[in-house]
Amino acid sequence: MTKILVTSALPYVNNIPHLGNLIGSVLSADCYARYQRLRGNEVLYVLGTDEFGTTTENKAREEGITVEELVEKYFKIHKEVYDWFGTSYDCLGRTTSKENREVAKDIFLKLYKKGLIIEKEIEQLYSEKSETFLSDRFVEGECPHCNAKGARGDQCDSCGHLIDQKELINPISKLDGTKPILKKTKHLYVDLKKLQPTLEKFFNERKDKWSAQAVSITQQWFKRGLEPRAITRDLKWGISVPLEGWEDKVFYSWFDAPIGYIGITKECLGDKYASWWKDKDILLYQFMGKDNVPFHSIMFPSYLIGCEDGYNIIDVLDSTAYINYGNAKFSKSKGTGVFGDDAIKSGIASDVWRYYLFRMRPEDNDTEFVWDDFYAKVNNELVGNFGNFVNRVVSLTEKFFEGKKPAKKSSPLKTDVEKLLKEYFALLDRSRERDALTKANEISSLGNKFLQDKEPWKLVKDNLAEAGEVIAECIDLLKVLSLVYRPFIPSAAEKVAQIIGFDIKSGFENAFDEIKDGTKLVPQGILFEKLEKKQIDDFRKKFSGK
Ligand code: 2FM
Ligand code: ZN
Repeated sequence: MTKILVTSALPYVNNIPHLGNLIGSVLSADCYARYQRLRGNEVLYVLGTDEFGTTTENKAREEGITVEELVEKYFKIHKEVYDWFGTSYDCLGRTTSKENREVAKDIFLKLYKKGLIIEKEIEQLYSEKSETFLSDRFVEGECPHCNAKGARGDQCDSCGHLIDQKELINPISKLDGTKPILKKTKHLYVDLKKLQPTLEKFFNERKDKWSAQAVSITQQWFKRGLEPRAITRDLKWGISVPLEGWEDKVFYSWFDAPIGYIGITKECLGDKYASWWKDKDILLYQFMGKDNVPFHSIMFPSYLIGCEDGYNIIDVLDSTAYINYGNAKFSKSKGTGVFGDDAIKSGIASDVWRYYLFRMRPEDNDTEFVWDDFYAKVNNELVGNFGNFVNRVVSLTEKFFEGKKPAKKSSPLKTDVEKLLKEYFALLDRSRERDALTKANEISSLGNKFLQDKEPWKLVKDNLAEAGEVIAECIDLLKVLSLVYRPFIPSAAEKVAQIIGFDIKSGFENAFDEIKDGTKLVPQGILFEKLEKKQIDDFRKKFSGK
């Protein structure tokens, strides 16, 4: 048994998460955590909200409430969304917790004592109108590398270059639309330059198991050469810097946010957090969108390696590309796309949303959420394949065998299923979740084809025992199916397990143990309703998508 610590990037609390945020990290981590539990491993899945930073401050101002009220309000919404989507987190917490403040300060002071924190006086963009320094997300301009418009103060989404906000051409304050001036301020920096050789060594030892995209993004950073990176900001809403003379500055949220994984574990488990963060035999598996990669492959490891306090450092980094809404980006302000609260109100079961999101998981390239495709994949695959197989098996058993499992002498599907299951394991071990779901569908198709070929509804007339053999084999297949679908569509998988009286938590170990002859099936009703065309058309209009 391996102990696996799974984390999902901590979504910003200042907004309602959309389907892209959900599949990009939260559900991806959930799927992996569920899979590893079923394989008999001990898993701790850590999830939470990223609560500091200017965006949160501004959102509070916009809503006319205090920052504390804002984070309370949105934390509840996030929790509701994660729960509704069936996220199986073990720890759910917040970067603003007392524990995280303590851990962040402690790590900072250790870095400071080791001489890894540098002080620099710099010029930064300042809005005279709002009387505030502008954080990177609040200044926009032309990219100095590719000239794309709308590049942010930290990064250009068009060419992916990191930018120093001062390099932006024609910068504009996003807070108030004015042209910012340059003003002197001082900040503290992590000396990434000093740490580069150690960081590269650590990366090279692990990169074979990382997503290709994460490897290439990280390699680009190393190639350009690491420079000291600021970890303080001139803001109010943050963790104050625990150094004399620096109390009026706070940590940059990308300092305390990844440390939040540790803080949240501590918030949830108390001192036992150390058995996950400091025991060396733990596998640390982190899920995130591609924009978060450098913060987890370089920044977070630099804090943990630099402070030399025995923390576990990322083993596997799994990053996703983006799922767009048609050919546009999800945007609450423009009313584009489906958000967590919309899904809750949709009348469509969370498993159905999950199914489509995993089928479209952007594992290598960006993908698109398209309503017609949603309609087709749900109706043809989820309802038409898996749902249909389960319903057929249950109703044939009721009709011809009084709802009880008939006897069988052989297992004609076993060899093929074992082969597919092995492939499924190999995929999920590398968190190729989309492909693994397709593999689960192949196993279900095998069952449907078997029924179609054998036609037990005809066999019953002359050879009831042979018809029974077919049905019994299908009932045993339901057990494997409940397991392979469990990481993706947990509620439906649980229902299938209940039909055959199988304790799904016992996992894959006894997947091929036959269910006892004569077991009475416990029907659970229709697993999934077909989507209606009209329903889809209404959603398309409502969420202004294609
Ligand atoms: O991109 C985001 O939503 C960030 N809030 C992710 C932070 S991940 C971790 F560092 F907390
Ligand atoms: Zn650019």
